[in-house]
Amino acid sequence: MFPTNVYADRRKRLKQLMNSGIGLFLGNNESPMNYPDNTFHFRQDSSFLYFFGIEHPGLAAIIDFESGEEILFGNDVEIDDIIWMGVQPLLKDKAAKVGVSKTAPFAKLAEHIQAAINQSRSVHYLPPYRGENKILLGDLLGIHPAKVNQYRSLPFVKAVIQLRSIKDTYEIAEIEKACAIGYEMHVTAMKMAIAGESEQKIAGLVEAIPLKYGGHYSFPVILSQNGQTLHNHDHSGILQEGRLMLTDCGAETSMRYASDFTRTVPVNGKFTQKQKEIYQIVLDANNKATAASKPGITYQQVHLMAARVIAQGLKDLGLMKGDVEAAVKAGAHAMFMPHGLGHMMGLDVHDMEDLGQIYVGYDNETRPIDQFGTAYLRLGRKLETGFVLTNEPGIYFIPALIDQWKAEKTNTEFINFDKVNEYRDFGGIRLEDDLLITDSGCRILGERVPITIEEIENTVGK
Ligand code: GLY
Ligand code: MN
Repeated sequence: MFPTNVYADRRKRLKQLMNSGIGLFLGNNESPMNYPDNTFHFRQDSSFLYFFGIEHPGLAAIIDFESGEEILFGNDVEIDDIIWMGVQPLLKDKAAKVGVSKTAPFAKLAEHIQAAINQSRSVHYLPPYRGENKILLGDLLGIHPAKVNQYRSLPFVKAVIQLRSIKDTYEIAEIEKACAIGYEMHVTAMKMAIAGESEQKIAGLVEAIPLKYGGHYSFPVILSQNGQTLHNHDHSGILQEGRLMLTDCGAETSMRYASDFTRTVPVNGKFTQKQKEIYQIVLDANNKATAASKPGITYQQVHLMAARVIAQGLKDLGLMKGDVEAAVKAGAHAMFMPHGLGHMMGLDVHDMEDLGQIYVGYDNETRPIDQFGTAYLRLGRKLETGFVLTNEPGIYFIPALIDQWKAEKTNTEFINFDKVNEYRDFGGIRLEDDLLITDSGCRILGERVPITIEEIENTVGK
């Protein structure tokens, strides 16, 4: 946990942004795997963690934005629980650690909410993403569970995003711990990338690494020789010489801060000429994005810069043609990179996505671009000091997409389909780093996972 004043200060700043009504925060509960007592690993809600820091199921909190009162709701364990789980700290002691002086049994939450409703006060809440909390909110507010998201509080959403978007020094130190674990996950995968090895075995060993640090993976590991499938969780392949293995994975620390890296390596460690050429374009795009990221530039601009590097590189290889600027404007590069350059990262690997991506990644000044590929850009707005985000360009050869564009004659003036056909079984390359925006530019968080062609060739199988 961070020092007590960190949480108290976050709530104080939230109160400065919200001036009426009450804020309702629901923690997460245990989630059963196959019967109630056999649960998935517990993951606290990230906004609850941000403001109340307590990693425990069965909690909720309210902040009165007018009187300033803060109450943590939960139940102390009883003898039956102690027999199975051991003695647990009292709720009031947990609350004191995050600077909250008032606690109440969970059952009292409904009374407090009802009292606010009776006084016609606004009950601000964030959009729930778990069924249990939708039902609970439905009960508390007298709304059908299917409709609770509709009535979430937009001012509350925006205030929480405003605070959580800027990472403080404690958070950055924690993200760097996640990066160190992510580094170990990736280097482990690289060392095992030898022909005959199974993807599943590598994925399993990689997933286990954060557990030994009291953490967890920040999302299920993506690892495959079929890297052209962007989020490939099928690990059924056996590594073959001549193919590329794409690994996209990261850790979350015991305090639930995330890392998220992607690397692509040749099985057995030696790139073919064709692989080297495509790899270097993706690396150039990644480096260009890092060099350009700084306060004041929009990430949409940075995305388009990376897209131009990709289009220019593919043109130089004869895969694209025509004017690069015009090709990117037309979205032709998106056949090779049908996704955005990156997303915010923090307590969630896609930070705050539950609150609404449009509010996290965009604002009135920067609106999403409604074009295939760029439409998937999760973060487009102007960068600010303290943002943490991913930089993850890629080039993929997706046979179904190539065939569709060719048949529909999409962007034929910018794509040399005959040449592209020679790459149908190439797979995909993505290279992802995590960036902290500083006053003057940005820095890559953690020790950079091996990324140059030389570094990769010196790590794979070693
Ligand atoms: N690394 C997974 C993602 O960004 O979607
Ligand atoms: Mn990512």
